[in-house]
Amino acid sequence: MKRLEGRVALITGAGSGIGAATAQVFAESGAAVGVLDVDPGKAREVVSRIEALGGQAVALAADVSAFDQFDAAVQHLLRRYARVDVLVNNAAVQIMGPLHAFGDEDFDRVIAVNLKGSFNGCRIVLPVLMQQGHGVILFTSSVLGLVADPDLAVYGATKAGMIALMRSVALAYGSHGIRAAAVCPGDVETPLVAEYFRFQPDPEAARQAVSRHYPLGRIAQPTEVAKVLAFLASDDASFVSGSSVIVDGGLLANVY
Ligand SMILES: NC(=O)c1ccc[n+]([C@@H]2O[C@H](COP(=O)([O-])OP(=O)(O)OC[C@H]3O[C@@H](n4cnc5c(N)ncnc54)[C@H](O)[C@@H]3O)[C@@H](O)[C@H]2O)c1
Repeated sequence: MKRLEGRVALITGAGSGIGAATAQVFAESGAAVGVLDVDPGKAREVVSRIEALGGQAVALAADVSAFDQFDAAVQHLLRRYARVDVLVNNAAVQIMGPLHAFGDEDFDRVIAVNLKGSFNGCRIVLPVLMQQGHGVILFTSSVLGLVADPDLAVYGATKAGMIALMRSVALAYGSHGIRAAAVCPGDVETPLVAEYFRFQPDPEAARQAVSRHYPLGRIAQPTEVAKVLAFLASDDASFVSGSSVIVDGGLLANVY
């Protein structure tokens, strides 16, 4: 039997990068997947790829920072599959810049999508999981929830905030059969990280310099994070809750 056979999973920000890879890996593992993204075209593309491989998925268009849109997407998923077993709070935006010059609007946007989006996901899905008596809430945090980048202070604050939310979910809802966990990836080959390199004075030199910091000599592919999320979503991780799993190819093992 496949690892997520019979499960229904909702993945936010699933139109691209880690979310898209997670949708695909979950579907290959037997789950029916709600592919939620603010960009409906990208969500539909991921659904088509999953269906072409014989998997089950539905595209859901919503901005996670807008409670009503997110709630409507969850209701749509529930009408289709009558349950949801796993939520992956994955959608995020990254806006770079030095803290002293970071604008109000940028601050509000990063907080709204990354942190409030995860909060919305929890408060919409938790009542369903409590009623079912089981479920898993996963968060795509980051190594930047644990350590810092000088140009990503606010982004890092949201990633640390997601870990705090995750721990509270684990504590408060464990007695309902609900687990929570986070992944903390290092750099992953996605449009988000390409944007990071574009921001550097010499993008190619920056990419090579970043890769050299990794004991494995490279950054990750999205499926390398997706497979950890699939493990955490599955019964193979039945006693994993309140934990953050670092998926960084050894990056944080280094001091100097
Ligand atoms: N790429 C990395 O190096 C890296 C490292 C650590 C953590 N992460 C985290 O992984 C997650 C996915 O990042 P990625 O690199 O795949 O990014 P990405 O930019 O490739 O994909 C993010 C997706 O989220 C969607 N999205 C953005 N705002 C949204 C909103 N308001 N509502 C719904 N969907 C929205 C986008 O349309 C996009 O499809 C993020 O939480 C990110 O912080 C990424």
